Amino acid sequence: MSEPKSKNIVWSESKVEAGQREQLQGNKPATLWFTGLSGSGKSTLAVATELALIERGINAFILDGDNVRHGLNSNLGFSPEDRTENIRRIGEVCKLFCDSGMIVFSAFISPYRADRDLVREKHPQGQFIEVLIDAPLEVCESRDVKGLYEKARAGEIPEFTGISAPYEAPNNPEITVNTAQHGLDECVKQVIDFLELKGIIPSA
Ligand code: ADX
Repeated sequence: MSEPKSKNIVWSESKVEAGQREQLQGNKPATLWFTGLSGSGKSTLAVATELALIERGINAFILDGDNVRHGLNSNLGFSPEDRTENIRRIGEVCKLFCDSGMIVFSAFISPYRADRDLVREKHPQGQFIEVLIDAPLEVCESRDVKGLYEKARAGEIPEFTGISAPYEAPNNPEITVNTAQHGLDECVKQVIDFLELKGIIPSA
C-alpha cells in the first residue's frame, strides 16, 4: 500500500460501536466484487441482484465500470496503469461502503489479479467476496452487447480485454457464476444463497 503524500494528517475515529450499524440495517457489510470479461454479464447480474436485495428490504448499491468512468474515474483510460488506478479507487470506495454497513456491488472487468488482491487486503476478513462472472470469450463476443468486440477485432479499440489486453481470472473466487450455462434468475439465486449461507443477509 502506498503511503499518503500528505504528512500532517491524523486519523479520526468514529464513536459508533461494532455491530451498531448491523443492528440498524439488518445485514452485515460486504463488497461483492464481480470480475469478468466485457459482455460476461457483470452489470446485468449486479442490477438484478441489487433489485432482489432492495425488494427484500436490504440496502445495496452498484458501482459500475462504465458509469464510474463518467465521473470519479473520468480521467482514466485503459492502459495497465490506468486500470490499476481505476481498481484502486473503486476498492477504496467499496471499503467505505462497507464501513458504512452497506452491501456494495462492484462491476468492473478488473483484469489484474494483483489489483483485486490488493482490494481484498483492504477489507476486513470475510467482507470481500470475489465473484467470477464466467463466460467464454466466444460467448461474450457473440453477445457483443455494445458492439465493442467487433470494433476491437477491426483494430479500432486498442488494448481491448480478451482481444489485445489480458484477463487474469481469479484462482479461488468465493463464487463462480456461469452466465453462459445458467439463466439470470438462477445466477441471482446463486449469489443470494451465498449471502444467506454466510449470514450476511437474513434467510428469506
Ligand atoms: S477495467 O479493466 O478498468 O476494470 P472497466 O470495468 O472500468 O475496465 O471498464 C470496462 C468497460 O469499458 C467495458 O465494459 C467496455 O464497455 C468499455 N471499454 C472501452 N474500452 C475498453 C477496453 N480497451 N478494454 C475493455 N473495456 C473497454
